[in-house]
Amino acid sequence: MENISFEKRDNIAVLKISRPKFLNALNSNTLLELDSIIEDVKRDKDIYVLVITGEGNKAFVAGADIKEMSNMSVFEAREFSILGNSVFRKIEKLEIPTIAAVNGYALGGGCELSLCCDIRIASENAKFGQPEVTLGITPGFGGTQRLARIVGTSRAKELIYTGRMIDAKEAEKIGLVNKVVTQENLMDEVMDLANSISKNAPIAVRMCKVAINRGIEVDIETGIQYETELFSHCFLTEDQRDAMAAFLDKRKVDKFKN
Ligand code: CAA
Repeated sequence: MENISFEKRDNIAVLKISRPKFLNALNSNTLLELDSIIEDVKRDKDIYVLVITGEGNKAFVAGADIKEMSNMSVFEAREFSILGNSVFRKIEKLEIPTIAAVNGYALGGGCELSLCCDIRIASENAKFGQPEVTLGITPGFGGTQRLARIVGTSRAKELIYTGRMIDAKEAEKIGLVNKVVTQENLMDEVMDLANSISKNAPIAVRMCKVAINRGIEVDIETGIQYETELFSHCFLTEDQRDAMAAFLDKRKVDKFKN
């Protein structure tokens, strides 16, 4: 891979967008590499949590590549948006939890990449924004859809109409990030969080994510039915039997299975 590094530590995978000369901006090649890694992650049953971050201490991702977009035809722009949206939707639909470790600028496509993760932890120097209207375009990788769902339509509209950048503190205040930490502690905090998730029953954690993600897209009656199906599905697992037996025996489960 030219623009992405990927490593696994125990059951946690860390994916780093790595084009530091361009503040990790996403060009087509990087999106194709991202797509291929996400397909591998989907198949790898030993990965319980995926962390996504950017190379260096200045940018998470400073957006889609403006140089590449500058000469695009309508057809090429459409293909570019389809590619970005398809990869980001794949990330959103991964059954394992995903955490964005936002280590600097998360603008345009970078903010959108963080939005398709389940949890966002930001360093104090992180900056978020959807500056597309300052470039004569709309967000193209899901920003108009996911930002509104996460922070509410009113705040999303203000941020998207103005293109205003907000700092990590304001992002936390409006519920865009879960927690702000110092830059030097960012990866330790994110790995602690990933570890605390990965030590729980992995199938149950995945079922929780599926229930929440499917549930928010449908009416509550249908969502509750999903929950009942997924809850009862857990009773097919060794984890359920072992964990409940361990509780009754007043001991801890050694290790959850998968
Ligand atoms: N695309 C391509 N190159 C980019 C880039 C981007 N999104 N963001 C930064 N770069 C490049 C710069 O061109 C520069 O390259 P050169 O050294 O070759 O000139 C290098 O990265 C460093 O950037 P700056 O010199 O600009 O760094 P700075 O500290 O002065 O400013 C910044 C940092 C405020 C993030 C500024 O780089 C910036 O505003 N970047 C663009 C942010 C943006 O508008 N993103 C949205 C893109 S549109 C989009 O994402 C659409 C979509 O939804 C799909």
